[in-house]
Amino acid sequence: MDSFELKTQSGIVPIRLAYANATWIAAELARVLGVRRPRLLIVTDENVALHHLENLKSALAAEGFSLDECILPPGEDQKTIARTKFLLDILAQKKFARDDMVLAFGGGVITDLAGFVASVYQRGIEWVAVPTTLLGMVDAAIGGKTGVNHELGKNLIGSFHQPKMVLAELSVLSTLAPREIRSGAAEIVKGTLLVGGEFWREIETAGVDAMHWSPRQFERFVARGAAVKIEIVSRDERESGERMLLNLGHTFGHALEQVTGYGTLAHGEAVFYGMRAAIRLSEKCGMMPQPKARGLDKWIAALELPGAKCSADNLLTAIQSDKKTASGKLRWILLRDAGKPVISHDVPDQVVRECAEWLVEVTRSGAEAISIPRRRRVVILNGPNLNLLGTREPSVYGSTTYEELSKQCYEWADDLNFDLLIRQSNHEGEFAELIQWARRWADGLVLNPGAFTHTSVAVRDALAAANMPAVEVHLSDPSTREEFRHTSLISDLCRRTIKGLATDGYREALTELAFSLPETA
Ligand code: DQA
Repeated sequence: MDSFELKTQSGIVPIRLAYANATWIAAELARVLGVRRPRLLIVTDENVALHHLENLKSALAAEGFSLDECILPPGEDQKTIARTKFLLDILAQKKFARDDMVLAFGGGVITDLAGFVASVYQRGIEWVAVPTTLLGMVDAAIGGKTGVNHELGKNLIGSFHQPKMVLAELSVLSTLAPREIRSGAAEIVKGTLLVGGEFWREIETAGVDAMHWSPRQFERFVARGAAVKIEIVSRDERESGERMLLNLGHTFGHALEQVTGYGTLAHGEAVFYGMRAAIRLSEKCGMMPQPKARGLDKWIAALELPGAKCSADNLLTAIQSDKKTASGKLRWILLRDAGKPVISHDVPDQVVRECAEWLVEVTRSGAEAISIPRRRRVVILNGPNLNLLGTREPSVYGSTTYEELSKQCYEWADDLNFDLLIRQSNHEGEFAELIQWARRWADGLVLNPGAFTHTSVAVRDALAAANMPAVEVHLSDPSTREEFRHTSLISDLCRRTIKGLATDGYREALTELAFSLPETA
């Protein structure tokens, strides 16, 4: 577990990051509150609720909290005054008292909105941030900025209201789409560009694509990313100086989000584009030497980002309404080098316009601008009880643990030049959903549905609907075991069934896909 304390004028905010589970979240919250057990209004969105709400609720109930919940549709368009009023109505109707709390369980939209509601209900009640996205864990949930959007600009309405604590439980990230992981990493990359040093050198080598970071690197970079934000906010809570630096890439980034329509580009994607624009501005203002600026730009551009259409005039209008203006002058965060940021009020309008025109071109070509072909993508799905590998009937399934098997699979996939994601579920419906999700992201599928192999028509139907290259794996050889294991409802939908090879079966399955999947463009 990584444990930090954000010390501000408003008090100390404990911030904890760990690969754990809902029980850990509830226990940490209970520990910080001592004997107090306030009522909690959990504010979350449908996606988070689907995967994680029940677990969190039972863990909190077991700790003695009484709970109310509000599940909102996902998306940036929830960050409105109308939604604020809706949540305030719930708090008032349910008679929440001054010593009750709001628990924001979601990404940046949820923590911004729920934190803001907590800041104005009865002139401010306490709230807890439980971020479920990478962006939330390293940025949005830390620092006490809360707020909603206005038609004329992002986050135009808001307040500073520190959460009572921030609890980032990293294993929830496994249900996120790669696009969200990649874009969330923008704030980590921003942090390295601001502080430089060892952190920068590590990420410079690892590259900007978080899907290519090893699990070890990932955990480290998340904690370091959060630490950068914590350090800067603790020195300047109210953004009167150093905290402005955290806006690197956000002036053009926010403008892009606004003119392309919130949600077209993920926030992090817009920030990646915005950082490229800030680097270009730094070069054009003579702060960063051209070779360095071009090198950095190429480094960020290696990440495949979706394209977006906009005009330079619209971008410039949006930038003017950006709240980061000081007495009518825009404040730009520029870079002399990684680790050497500069706040500038003196970027000539002509240079900003040229930069906007350049950005319009870059975003229009989007992914086409980047020539690096992506790696082929494979998903491994494991069914019920496979999480118990190592302790579960070792004479049948061996003594390799689930974590060891996953690690090996990542290494094998790397050797075969695959991007790999591994998921496990004990629930039939969720397993079917994971197949549907795999269809959207991956080129090939390796699946060991465990007992569902023999029983689940729902899993079979999901696989048939996915209609994608799949290989079936079993650690044991079910055909030599009890009669009820002799039938597989999925074999005829798979390219091959590999059984009885223990964990090596997974390597065999990946190799099969390596030979049979077409190369990506
Ligand atoms: C298994 C075989 C299934 O019969 C059993 O229900 C499992 C594991 C295997 O990997 O050998 O859970 O799929």
